[in-house]
Amino acid sequence: MDAAYREKVTKICTAAAAAPSGDNSQPWRFVFRAPNMLEFHAITEKDNELLNIDGSGTYIALGAAIQNAELEAKALGFVPDVRYSSSGSLVAVFVLHDGGVQSDEEKKLHQAIPSRHSNRKAYKKIPIAEDDRDALISAAGNPTGASFTLVEERESMSLVSRALTTMEEIALQNKSLHRLFFESIFWSKERNIAGNSGLYIGTLELPPPARLLFKVLKYWSVANVLAKLGFPTMVAKTNAAQNASASAFGLITIEHFDRRNYVEAGRLLERVWLAATAQGMSLQIVTGMLFLARTVERGHATVFSPEECTMVKKAYARAQETLKTDEPFLMFRVGYSNAPSAVSFRREPVIEGLH
Ligand SMILES: Cc1cc2nc3c(=O)[nH]c(=O)nc-3n(C[C@H](O)[C@H](O)[C@H](O)COP(=O)(O)O)c2cc1C
Repeated sequence: MDAAYREKVTKICTAAAAAPSGDNSQPWRFVFRAPNMLEFHAITEKDNELLNIDGSGTYIALGAAIQNAELEAKALGFVPDVRYSSSGSLVAVFVLHDGGVQSDEEKKLHQAIPSRHSNRKAYKKIPIAEDDRDALISAAGNPTGASFTLVEERESMSLVSRALTTMEEIALQNKSLHRLFFESIFWSKERNIAGNSGLYIGTLELPPPARLLFKVLKYWSVANVLAKLGFPTMVAKTNAAQNASASAFGLITIEHFDRRNYVEAGRLLERVWLAATAQGMSLQIVTGMLFLARTVERGHATVFSPEECTMVKKAYARAQETLKTDEPFLMFRVGYSNAPSAVSFRREPVIEGLH
C-alpha cells in the first residue's frame, strides 16, 4: 500500500476517534483489511458498567465515530459503502471505493469535527435562532430507526432538566455509583493531553469552591455524611437550573431497543452536534438518568436501594410525561455559551492491519 493511501485511512480513523464517548472511554478499535476494508469494532467493557445497558452507550459512541469516519472518507474522495454487523465486536465495515462527492451540508459538518466538544458551562437563557434550529433539524435528517425533536418550551425544559439531574442526586448518595463516577474523574492536565479515558476536572466547569469540594467528595465517607445532610438534592436542583438555562433540549428516540438503532442514534447525535458546532452553538449530553432508568427497569440494578429505584422510576415517568414519549432514549442541552475552559483529548488511534 502506498503512503498516501495509508495516510488517508489514518485520517479516517482519527476523525472517527474524535467522536464523543461516555466518560471519554473511546470504546473503539479499527482494523484495516487490504485492499480497501476498514472495520469498526466496539469494546463494550470500557463504558460505565451501571449505565451501559446492552452496550447502548458504547454503540452510540461507535455510531458517532462511524458518522465522523464517513464524513472524512467522503472529504478524501471515497464513497464508503457502509455495512453493519449485528453481533460480535464488529459494528460496521467500510468498503472504500473512489469517487465520493460531499454535499455542502456534509462539508460544513466535516469541517466542524475538530472543534466539536462538550460544553458544560452555563448557557444563555435565550431562544434558539431560527436558522440554527433549521440547521440542527436538517442535520438530523430522517434516518430509519431513530428520530430527533427539540424541546424549547420553558416549563417542559425545567421539568425534564430536574428529572435528568436525579442522576447526580443518586451518584452522590449511592456507594457504587459514587465510586464509578469519581473513578472516571482525573485532575492531571498531562493525562488529559495524553488522551486518557475519563473526565478531566477542567471540563466539568466547576466553580472554584465546588472544585475544591470535589477533591474531598471523592471519598465515600465524606460524600456519605453530606448525603445525610441533603447535599445531593441541593446539587441536583442547582444543576437542573443551570441545564435548563439552555435554549433547548434535544431528544433522540429510537423505534426498538436494538444495537442497530443505538448506532443510528449515535450517528444522528453526531450530525446534530456537528451542525450545532458549525452554527457556533454549545452542546452537552445530559442523559445518565435515562440510562440508569433502563438499568433499574431491567432489574440489573441490585446495587440500588428500593428508595433509589423509586426515585429513578419517578424521574423517568416525569420525563416520559413531559416529553410525551414512552421511551426517551438520549438527551442533551443545546444553546449559546462562551467556549469551554478545557476540552478532552484522544489517544492516537491504533489501526490494526495497516502496514
Ligand atoms: C453515550 C454517551 C453518554 C454521555 N453522557 C454524558 C452525560 O450524561 N453528561 C455529560 O456531561 N457528558 C456525557 N457524555 C459526553 C462525554 O463525556 C464526552 O463526549 C467525552 O468526555 C469526550 O469529550 P468531548 O465530547 O468534549 O469530545 C456522553 C457521551 C456519550 C457518547
